[in-house]
Amino acid sequence: TPPIYILAIESSCDDTAAAVLKDNVVLSNVVARQHIHEEYGGVVPELASRAHQQNIVPVVDVALKKAGITRDQLSAVAFTQGPGLMGSLLVGTSFAKSLAMALQIPLIAVNHMHAHILAHFIKEEGFAMPEFPFLALTISGGHTQIVKVNSFFDLEIIGETTDDAVGEAFDKSAKILGLPYPGGPLIDQLAKEGNPKRFPFTRPKVDGLDFSFSGLKTQILYFIQKNQAANPNFIEENKADICASIQHIIIEILMEKLKLAVSTTGINQIAIGGGVSANSGIRQTLVDAQSKYGWKTFIPKFEYTTDNAAMIGIVGYHRYLEERFTATDVVAKARIEF
Ligand code: KG4
Ligand code: ZN
Repeated sequence: TPPIYILAIESSCDDTAAAVLKDNVVLSNVVARQHIHEEYGGVVPELASRAHQQNIVPVVDVALKKAGITRDQLSAVAFTQGPGLMGSLLVGTSFAKSLAMALQIPLIAVNHMHAHILAHFIKEEGFAMPEFPFLALTISGGHTQIVKVNSFFDLEIIGETTDDAVGEAFDKSAKILGLPYPGGPLIDQLAKEGNPKRFPFTRPKVDGLDFSFSGLKTQILYFIQKNQAANPNFIEENKADICASIQHIIIEILMEKLKLAVSTTGINQIAIGGGVSANSGIRQTLVDAQSKYGWKTFIPKFEYTTDNAAMIGIVGYHRYLEERFTATDVVAKARIEF
């Protein structure tokens, strides 16, 4: 059979991304990051949509060029339908529709969270693919979910956050410490030099497999306020230990729920995904879990953790194989189910 070439487009938040896949192999994976949001301490939706509008054509051109193929060779166009910021999603959705119509090839709508999970099915040297069923822990700036993945298209959310996402816990804690947005990677960096047991924060009590992170944020805020009042240099003098302690409690919360998910489902294959799975502490903890608990853990290649279009492309490829195409009257959705 001839190869399938998928052009994938991702524009759900603040990164404009395009990728080209040849079957399950990534030929190119291009991301234009929007740095404009840094000075605002968070993503400004209006600015994000405008930047997508500006970046989308060049990003797609570069992705095709790097892949070494022309538009005419494409088999289908896949795009992120949601969840995400409406104005951002509209840019990618409209562009993908128009291109698919012009080239007279199928259009394939993709759920962004589904893509963070199926990113594990991108063929990469040195990376094994999980077998069904497995558990996926998706941790990003907008989501925290434990998903039971029965097949490519049968996914069940068995636990999720009742308030903030784990990425928000990182970013909001970083903000309290005066670090710029997004603070997750900075906490990760600083934590490497710190003592994770120095400041013991407490875990919230949440039933079952659900999560809660808003209480932790408040706990950290009060802790910092109290200590800064006593010593105005408290943050400066203890930054690495504070970051290590914050990262430590977040990992404890995630691991507590993963252990419960393994014992209740009897499934011990765990795949992580989403921007927060770039965290070095989380990655190491999951590697250690293999010998410690006998789990089989799957940690994505770094470039497939934060938002990217290659992961949209792999969902596109599997939808293509099953001819799960999308009508051109499809609309972007800020919220979306599996
Ligand atoms: O998946 P993603 O790129 O976008 C969403 O779909 O939300 O995730 C972004 C989130 C941000 O909260 C960012 O701070 C967090 O991922 N993040 C990290 C790290 N790298 C990115 N959090 C902790 N440690 C990191 N190394
Ligand atoms: Zn994401």
